[in-house]
Amino acid sequence: MRNGPAEAPPERPLDEAPAEARNMTDDLQALKTETDAALAAATDLRAWDAIRVAVLGRNGKLTALLRDLGKTPPEERRERGAALNRLKEALTEAIDARKAELEDAALEARLASERIDPTLPPRPRETGLIHPIARTMEEIAAIFGAMGCTVSDGPDVESDWLNFGALNIPPHHPARADHDTFYLPPRDNQAPPVLRTHTSPVQIRTMLTQPPPIRTIVIGRTYRADHDATHSPMFHQCEGLVIDRDITLGHLKGCLTDFLRAFFGIADLPVRFRSSYFPFTEPSMEVDIGWDRKSGELGRGADWLEILGSGMVHPRVLANCGIDPREWQGFAFGMGVERVTMLKHGMADLRPFYESDIRWLRHYGFNPLAPTMLHEGV
Ligand code: DAH
Repeated sequence: MRNGPAEAPPERPLDEAPAEARNMTDDLQALKTETDAALAAATDLRAWDAIRVAVLGRNGKLTALLRDLGKTPPEERRERGAALNRLKEALTEAIDARKAELEDAALEARLASERIDPTLPPRPRETGLIHPIARTMEEIAAIFGAMGCTVSDGPDVESDWLNFGALNIPPHHPARADHDTFYLPPRDNQAPPVLRTHTSPVQIRTMLTQPPPIRTIVIGRTYRADHDATHSPMFHQCEGLVIDRDITLGHLKGCLTDFLRAFFGIADLPVRFRSSYFPFTEPSMEVDIGWDRKSGELGRGADWLEILGSGMVHPRVLANCGIDPREWQGFAFGMGVERVTMLKHGMADLRPFYESDIRWLRHYGFNPLAPTMLHEGV
């Protein structure tokens, strides 16, 4: 038998206020309902704070109701006061709860927008590229470093003796005419100092200060009074010097062939040794690499391109440095850093190297974060 309607459990009418609002008069209930709706609609802490001030602030609606309590007839005052206290508690609770929700949401949003992924590799910056000359110098040092060479250096201003004399280039020697030397004012009746015309004087400096065996390279600035698309008054050279008891022409050829193949990244780059003349080496050889003159492509074609000078260190140069040529011998070489850079990267003109044009640097510069790799090994 079904229960009659009289026994049905009492249901709360839909329009009845929830527990905390019960025993509230209509105006109090209205404030609670209105505040709840405003809180629900508030989507940030600013809106939330405006509601807090409008309800609980000094001129807020609840504060006004509390202030008006005194005007309530004494017989109703007690009940009205209790109801106002309950309302205040309920409002404070609702306002605090909404604040916590909004703060949580704001934190979540911030965490999402400021998220970083520490596992990503660093991105190279747009600026701060390595200049091609610097890059070539790093590569040269890396390759010869892997062969066991140290790196030596010397000053840009040299004495006549170190730049020429000790290298077996006496005064009036025709080789001096090729160097287009910058002379500085003479001092103390000595021959005028020069801006070094090559890195070869560092060979002398090294042999004068270090006992053999020596395996070293020199990379640095050099100067000649010459200026066109492939010559600059200031340029860079790399010099090499190897001195030991049993160094032969075979070592020179093997070392330079390996270097050129590693530097240009062409494992079978044709390399040719052509006899030549330098005052400080005997025998002397110019080194050529194979290329195609028409396309400019290296390693292919029927043409040869001169790339550096080399030879066995002249006995007189060893003797000038106090090294006994009957006991020690070795080889040396010198090459232009700009020249090999231009060839490696297909650059036609040398002048932009020194013009600091940011567009050129952006095109030819190297990523500072990429290490110098020796693709061909040594
Ligand atoms: N010093 C020479 C020059 O500037 C290059 C050179 C040739 C250096 C042969 C050497 C060498 O050490 O052996 O033209």
